[in-house]
Amino acid sequence: MLLLTGATGTIGLPLLRRLTASGTPVRCLVRDPRRLGAERVRVQIALGDLGDPTSFRHALRGVETVVHLAATIRDQPNGSIEELAGVATWRLVKAAEKAGVQRFLFFSTLGASTRGPTRLIRAKALAERAVTASSLVHTVFAPSLVYSPGDHFLRILERLSLLPVVPLSGTGHAAFQPIWADDVADCLIAALPGGSRAGEAQRARFELAGPEVLTHEEIVRCALRSFGRRRPIVKLPRALVRRTLNTVELLTGPAAFATWDEAELLDVPLISGRGTADAERLGVNPKPMAAVLGVG
Ligand SMILES: NC(=O)c1ccc[n+]([C@@H]2O[C@H](COP(=O)([O-])OP(=O)(O)OC[C@H]3O[C@@H](n4cnc5c(N)ncnc54)[C@H](OP(=O)(O)O)[C@@H]3O)[C@@H](O)[C@H]2O)c1
Repeated sequence: MLLLTGATGTIGLPLLRRLTASGTPVRCLVRDPRRLGAERVRVQIALGDLGDPTSFRHALRGVETVVHLAATIRDQPNGSIEELAGVATWRLVKAAEKAGVQRFLFFSTLGASTRGPTRLIRAKALAERAVTASSLVHTVFAPSLVYSPGDHFLRILERLSLLPVVPLSGTGHAAFQPIWADDVADCLIAALPGGSRAGEAQRARFELAGPEVLTHEEIVRCALRSFGRRRPIVKLPRALVRRTLNTVELLTGPAAFATWDEAELLDVPLISGRGTADAERLGVNPKPMAAVLGVG
């Protein structure tokens, strides 16, 4: 049995489709099974929450492999970014050790560092340390920006593209190597027990990057082309965006359309010096963003 957290997310959904298609027995730790769509009838459901470590014990019963994708880029009523992306991973690792789990595959991020510039990057560094210091046979993936048509980030951009001008926080100069969630899912499948690269994935860290270096502004322009909308981009000072989004979050709480913690992530470059080499080691040739979005 494989336990998958974050199955309803950008990476989780394409990964889950591949797992169920290959007949792998999967249990999903989810807050709301309806968000699994049609896949929910093909998997076991463990209702749980990163903020509720007691839910981990039941979810881990009889599990040999854990794929831990769940995390958050905004504070939730059940916990802060630090608790849900950092401490919860440490708790899940401890519970997995107790439950006799054999393999633990974890999603960190490029640039994870306890001295990093954003809360998520710092929380991921602590989480990664908990995974690599554990007794579990682990694999760490550190991706650049991961996207999929219709994901949270592209949905926000599509809504903003209805305005006469598209606002962009900061200079838009931060560079990324965007990688498609389906390519990431293929990398993960190769690294799983029974996968084509299972052996070399043990105790390894893979940096997952797409084939091009694009700035935040170039990514927005590519997305606008895919929506079929030409719009001028207006760069807003970070301090103004921060004040505005913090006020929106204060007024609307978890329903905020965007938060400062999310916007800030797009100001921090996520670049791997290894380019696509690690994805290729896993047998995957990542596609360019324009091709995936149908504007290549
Ligand atoms: N996307 C990127 O650009 C990127 C870059 C670097 C690293 N990563 C890492 O890769 C992993 C997967 O990313 P993603 O883009 O697929 O994430 P995502 O689309 O934001 O999805 C997050 C997943 O975590 C679940 N989740 C959130 N809070 C939870 C909670 N309190 N309890 C249980 N589940 C919870 C969500 O479930 P609900 O359906 O209940 O909300 C969802 O399935 C994450 O660890 C992320 O930090 C992603």
